[in-house]
Amino acid sequence: MKIGIFDSGMGGLSVLHCAKKMLPETHFIFYADEDHVPYGEKSREELRGYITRALNYLVERRVDAIVIACNTATSIATPEFRQKFPVPIVGMEPAVKKAVELYGTERRRILVAATPVTVNGPKLQALLERVDAEHDADTVALPGLVRLAERGDFSSAAVSSYLRDALSSYDLAAYGTLVLGCTHFNYFKESFKKIFPCPIHFVDGNLGTVQQLKRVLQVEDATPAPDRHCCDYVFSGRPVSRTARERIAACLRQLDAVFHL
Ligand code: DGL
Repeated sequence: MKIGIFDSGMGGLSVLHCAKKMLPETHFIFYADEDHVPYGEKSREELRGYITRALNYLVERRVDAIVIACNTATSIATPEFRQKFPVPIVGMEPAVKKAVELYGTERRRILVAATPVTVNGPKLQALLERVDAEHDADTVALPGLVRLAERGDFSSAAVSSYLRDALSSYDLAAYGTLVLGCTHFNYFKESFKKIFPCPIHFVDGNLGTVQQLKRVLQVEDATPAPDRHCCDYVFSGRPVSRTARERIAACLRQLDAVFHL
């Protein structure tokens, strides 16, 4: 089985990281649109073109399904892309439903962090109206984290100072749950923990997305066999260089650390 995983950049590795464990013996093609990251601050029209190019590439590589491991790209027009392409496409959206189900009854509020395109788009607003009837959730756009993740900077003073600044108008003591509504944000769990004064639950969409992929492909649960997969890494349609491989390896190590493996 061959699966395409697509993101604007290094964020989608969090979905790959999870998929590798749940889909043994799978050939993955990980497509990062490194020529055009960050997506979260670009126009929806511009993004449609980049997304179409990436999906075309993966279809030409004859994948059995595509995961859009990017909340921003998914928020643009996933139903439209599903009609246009001949393979199943699984998107991802900020895991607000899961957060409300798990922690909605707690006293402290839920903060949904995502990119500006996701936060300001109609899809997230509609999702909040659907699943957050009690208005327990607030949103914040953190585009600076995408740039920091692309530089491989997950925990420096620059990260803390960015977060402090970007969250300065929020009463952080009011929050008990943080939804990581951009795949690039998974890398920063330790930095987030330092910023929030109270212990915080993290909720991400990685597992839910891979479970949805398995449902779409009608794949049965298998005993995890993490070493029996292979992955081709592609940057905007080109095979990656050695330096890029090192960057990817550093990101995967950070994901091992934040997901405690
Ligand atoms: N990783 C992407 C997401 O989940 C987008 C990051 C970006 O390129 O701005 O939204």
